[in-house]
Amino acid sequence: MRIRWIGHACFLLEGSKTVIIDPFLIGNPVTSLKPSDIKADLVLVTHGHGDHLGDAVEIARNNDCPVVAIHELSRILAAKNIEAVGMNIGGTALVSDVKITMVKAFHSADVEEDSGIISAGDPAGFVVELDGVKVYHCGDTDVFGDMRLIGELYSPDVMLLPIGGWYTMGIQEAVKAVELVKPRYAIPMHYNTFPIIETDPSGFKERVEKAIKDVSVVVLKPGEFFEIQ
Ligand code: NI
Ligand code: MN
Repeated sequence: MRIRWIGHACFLLEGSKTVIIDPFLIGNPVTSLKPSDIKADLVLVTHGHGDHLGDAVEIARNNDCPVVAIHELSRILAAKNIEAVGMNIGGTALVSDVKITMVKAFHSADVEEDSGIISAGDPAGFVVELDGVKVYHCGDTDVFGDMRLIGELYSPDVMLLPIGGWYTMGIQEAVKAVELVKPRYAIPMHYNTFPIIETDPSGFKERVEKAIKDVSVVVLKPGEFFEIQ
């Protein structure tokens, strides 16, 4: 399976199915991809903020594929004439033959509609199992102690986690998050998209690999992928 970082919190998981997570393309300064460039079997959205919900509706329409989100956000999306699958924290669902577990994230969530800003349920993370590889996309979050449980319960091979600070955890917290989850690989995200979340991913890599055994940090540039068996 290939894990391609589009940039910010947006990843494509490319295997027997193609899954796109948090498809923020239009307005994302680190990618020139457009919603019409994306071929996907499934769209996952961690929360309603514009840099995560992004172009989910258009991609779902173009591909005639479902969007998975927390119950409240899925109801907002279902009103847009797309297939929206709602689930909730701790639940596991099989959608488009992909196994998805929704997990906690410590953050906030609303969604901007033409009518104004409305509440969109809690923010979430996902553990996605595709072709035998388990990927934990943390969403926007701080580190929290129960990440240890997520590690114990699902044993993710790869952890995709924010390191940019300001709106999410920064490097100090992210190192602790990797220590709690103990994935085989950690891929940093949600940094250097905008000046306010600028940080140096090599500092994160150095600190993780020095402090934690058997974890490799893979630093990607937007557009690059990491292949895992
Ligand atoms: Ni957010
Ligand atoms: Mn965000």
